Amino acid sequence: MEECKPVLNTGLRDVVVASTKVSDVNGDLGKLIYRGYLVKDLAENATFEEVAHLLLYEKLPDENELEAFKAQLVAERTVPAQLIAALKTQPRDALPMDIFQACAALLANYDPDVRKPASREASLRMAIRLIAKLPTVLAAFDRIRNNNEPIEPKSDLSHAANFLYMLNGKTPDEEVGRFFDVCLVLHAEHSFNASTFAAREVASTTAHIYAAVSAAMGSLSGALHGGANTRVMNMLLKIGKVEAVEKYISDELAAGRKIMGLGHAVYNVDDPRATIIAPMSKKMGKRLGDTRWYEISEELERKAKEAFKKRKNMDIFVNVDFYSASLYYYMGIAVDLFTPIFAISRIAGWSAHVIEEQFADAAPKPMLYRPESKYIGDYCGPNECSFVPMERR
Ligand SMILES: CC(C)(COP(=O)(O)OP(=O)(O)OC[C@H]1O[C@@H](n2cnc3c(N)ncnc32)[C@H](O)[C@@H]1OP(=O)(O)O)[C@@H](O)C(=O)NCCC(=O)NCCS
Repeated sequence: MEECKPVLNTGLRDVVVASTKVSDVNGDLGKLIYRGYLVKDLAENATFEEVAHLLLYEKLPDENELEAFKAQLVAERTVPAQLIAALKTQPRDALPMDIFQACAALLANYDPDVRKPASREASLRMAIRLIAKLPTVLAAFDRIRNNNEPIEPKSDLSHAANFLYMLNGKTPDEEVGRFFDVCLVLHAEHSFNASTFAAREVASTTAHIYAAVSAAMGSLSGALHGGANTRVMNMLLKIGKVEAVEKYISDELAAGRKIMGLGHAVYNVDDPRATIIAPMSKKMGKRLGDTRWYEISEELERKAKEAFKKRKNMDIFVNVDFYSASLYYYMGIAVDLFTPIFAISRIAGWSAHVIEEQFADAAPKPMLYRPESKYIGDYCGPNECSFVPMERR
């Protein structure tokens, strides 16, 4: 029989490591589906609560199921007072994703299900608690660092509107609440990206969902992943005016730097989520009588496409982080909260994947991830190095 040697595949591109029923991305057609439904349809017609139910329970809820699910989320919105007290001890300039990652792990200490035998039902309860509580943690952190008292969640508001209320102390109007809700829908899931893979990898060791979600948050914080949206806004602020876009692109490309919000590991066409977010950003800008950030984004997209074609003979497309940056900015959200906001939505997808990893009943069943590596270190000749005693080193 022919020997099958492991192949070095840096970054795991094109390596299929598991089966999933959660979502699928078709990068050539620009299609993203959550459990069979096009994200475009979900963004137009569903709320975040419906989508979270779809991801966790594998079906869109009927009216009764939705009411029950929303009630569960509302009941779990409050966070332990000790956690709020701990937030008050943190440095004011702490990076929000670091706080958030730590809090996802800390919340495990207050969850009785963590100490019970693993079951799908227990994991679902823990997932619901994470989805419900993390927005409260994030809003409290932002208020504390701005010398304000945290605001208690309001039970008659939707998941999206309640977060904005806890952040700003004001109930958002219907349109703003819905725009934010759509953003949560669009960020809820995206197949085996870096953070989801991190969550599944941790879950494959049978660690609980809090451990998996906090690992995923670490992964999401990076600039090449969820951290891009914050950096997109910093870039727009730095560019400052439409007339400065062309020079910015040319300087960045000449210096070999990446332009944030452009490119994607999977899409070879427009990211379907960006297409939905762009008009919302434009509308918010118009509402506020300040379309500058939208216009700079639009010009950047146009000029970057030309520049990439000319310099690299390649097509480049904006990703989800590109227009969400100006939209969140128009909503008055602090720039460094953009990535944790991505996380408060993606918890739904991570949780669905963790539960699939833990309890999938269809073959092939997931197993502990354990890739190979290629050793390129020393051997000191044909054999291993001889140990060198301290006095001879
Ligand atoms: C997301 C990203 C990591 C995808 O990477 P990828 O599919 O591996 O694409 P590659 O990095 O192989 O890119 C192919 C080429 O395009 C270039 N490229 C891709 N995205 C670029 C960007 N945003 N700015 C400048 N150049 C870019 C790469 O440098 C590479 O050029 P090279 O062949 O001369 O080395 C990459 O596009 C990126 O870093 N984007 C900016 C960060 C971002 O917005 N992340 C959020 C993703 S949702």
